Amino acid sequence: MRKFLTVMLVFTAFILNTHAQTIHLSNSWKFTTGDSSIYKTSTFDDSNWQNIAVGESWEMQGHANYDGFGWYRVHFLLPSAIKQKSFLKDSLMLSLGDVDDGDEVYLNGQPIGINGNGGGDDIKQGRYGRRIYKISVNNPALNWEKENLLAVRVYDSGGAGGITGSDFSIRMIDVTDELKIDTGGDMVLTGSNNFSQTIKIIPLSNKTYRGQLSISFKDPETRRKYAERFVSVQTSKSKPFTFTFKENMPMAKSYALTYTFRESTSGKALTSTIFTPYILTPKVSLQPKVNGASDYGATSGNDFLYKIPATGKQPLTYGATDLPTGLTLDEKTGIITGKTPKDGEYAVKLSVKNELGSAAKTLKIKVGNLIGLTPTLGWNSWNAWGLSVSSEKVMISAKQMADKLSRHGWSYINIDDGWEAETRAANGEIVANEKFPDMKALADSVHALGLKIGIYSSPGPKTCGGYLGSYQHEMQDAQTYAAWGIDYLKYDWCSYGDIAPNNPNLAELKKPYEVMRRELNIAKRDIIYSLCQYGMGDVWKWGASIGANSWRTTGDINDSWQSMSGIGFNQENVVKYAEPGHFNDPDMLVVGKVGWGPNLHNTRLTPDEQYTHISLWSMQAAPLLIGCDMGQLDNFTLNLLTNDEVLAINQDELGLAARQVVKTPTYQIWIKDLSDGTKAIGIFNLSEHYQTVPIDLDKMNIAKDVDCRDVWRQKDIGKLTGVANSNIPPHGVLLLKTVK
Ligand code: GAL
Repeated sequence: MRKFLTVMLVFTAFILNTHAQTIHLSNSWKFTTGDSSIYKTSTFDDSNWQNIAVGESWEMQGHANYDGFGWYRVHFLLPSAIKQKSFLKDSLMLSLGDVDDGDEVYLNGQPIGINGNGGGDDIKQGRYGRRIYKISVNNPALNWEKENLLAVRVYDSGGAGGITGSDFSIRMIDVTDELKIDTGGDMVLTGSNNFSQTIKIIPLSNKTYRGQLSISFKDPETRRKYAERFVSVQTSKSKPFTFTFKENMPMAKSYALTYTFRESTSGKALTSTIFTPYILTPKVSLQPKVNGASDYGATSGNDFLYKIPATGKQPLTYGATDLPTGLTLDEKTGIITGKTPKDGEYAVKLSVKNELGSAAKTLKIKVGNLIGLTPTLGWNSWNAWGLSVSSEKVMISAKQMADKLSRHGWSYINIDDGWEAETRAANGEIVANEKFPDMKALADSVHALGLKIGIYSSPGPKTCGGYLGSYQHEMQDAQTYAAWGIDYLKYDWCSYGDIAPNNPNLAELKKPYEVMRRELNIAKRDIIYSLCQYGMGDVWKWGASIGANSWRTTGDINDSWQSMSGIGFNQENVVKYAEPGHFNDPDMLVVGKVGWGPNLHNTRLTPDEQYTHISLWSMQAAPLLIGCDMGQLDNFTLNLLTNDEVLAINQDELGLAARQVVKTPTYQIWIKDLSDGTKAIGIFNLSEHYQTVPIDLDKMNIAKDVDCRDVWRQKDIGKLTGVANSNIPPHGVLLLKTVK
């Protein structure tokens, strides 16, 4: 009966869609964990399986922390009308959203593809990402005019798993699918409004295409459309059409820029819209200024390394008065090194001068047993390079950080998974793979720039990427890291799932992290300890007690609004656990060029979504770990990462995370108390449209007559009441701070 009903529902959906050329596959999916080849067959009865929504990970739907195999099945009808009505009558296109991580797809029991374009021929090599499959209309697996069964075997190697993303459909491949508008070229901003970008129209087949490209941009606030221009196009695989678009945008805000290519024979159009970047952070002043947090934790007797973060016209000369014995400053580089003195608090006056003047700031060096007093500001290789990270790539990022970011307080260069060999040395020591020929030399070079270096491992025998983990070698590994000069360890659960019992209890969840903590203490080096186990056992409640400096609160982030906002706006239950030295980690940043592998793309977040991302992470006192290729930092991304007033909110000495004070489906307000007695206020527009957000000062416990500052623009804006009229861009933010 139940099965009959399901089939009826599917038929109804089909009837409603007979005129449409697209068969939507968003509903009526069935799911089970586990693995069996019988699940691919049409005759298998899945009526007892769980109903599941594609688009959300299986963790979100009753399978917390499940890694391994799962199967999805859906029935659909395939009308031949869609074939007849199409222009090219060759093939169907199956869109399966984003798969996390590998997949094998079967149609009526027959295999039609593996891992889309996201990995090799083994399901376990599948990489998280968009899945598109092409099926010839003559493929005997297709049942035209009849019911078809689509069965998808998914393998999740760690973190969130399943069929996620959007666009689950089957439709005929069209001329427009054979062409791609590549908007991945740099978005160059000269000044705050002058925008230029090089785009390409690339055919995916060997045919030559002709047509017209139109370019227009629209102000999403006023809906006004600006200058439309037309360019004629001829493009082939060997000579793809390339065009550089330049425009002086009327105002410093984001415009919807639409590229439309109309192919002349079919009359079909292909469209791609991006949102133009705009700069809010004012130019760095030439006057000298000391930036960065006002306190710094270190352990007595261990190596000390701190670079004074300071901006101003070069050359700068640095000073540090009342430096405790054992520490020395290099006046030219601003790098303080030596051995950390005995326990106590040392107020050191840091100063910087150039031809225009001088500036100073007190840094409290707190020597005791707590390090990482403020959230880590650094870079991590994962969101950029995935397993393709190499020593050279790390060094490129380190140099860029030293040149462009360390003046604002950025200091960690963290190598994620992919540095380890697959087998240990004969004496059991961990060794790096061929991409990291000399780890000690690499660490020395990073330290010479005044920066710190981080590394990654797992308490299991293997990391999530299949490299060596630390299981049963914890002591040796901690010693090796210390000998190399490592300053940060990200410790990722991964294959420890095979060691821990099923459904581990709290003690079992803590155990591997306590083991490594003990070994790090013995290693006598200040190593920030970053837990990565995706929030299991409410880690925020016990991370601090086992000596972690941060703990991941979620599965992996990706560069979509759904992922970033889904994580960032749902941290309200964990924020109260942030305190100096112990922070929630909602995962790394997805700004700039990301890729999780050798091929990078511009983040898919719009510029306003990126302002939201940095603001929200700063408000929540989250570690800020840049996840892009720093060798390709553009002006917009730099503007996101070098706003000293935004960073000061993140680095505030109180170490508190913002509280969510207003939550509605279309906007949220978060407030963070700061050490100078003021408050940071993040007003976030979650809707797709410009929106004025009402501000209830009583609810926010803020005095009516308080003056405010716009933090991104670094401008005083007067009384808060006036702000209610401020129009916040779609998915954007107004970040304020009360003025004393
Ligand atoms: C995941 C982790 C990612 C990355 C990856 C490496 O489990 O969440 O941040 O470290 O492993 O394989």
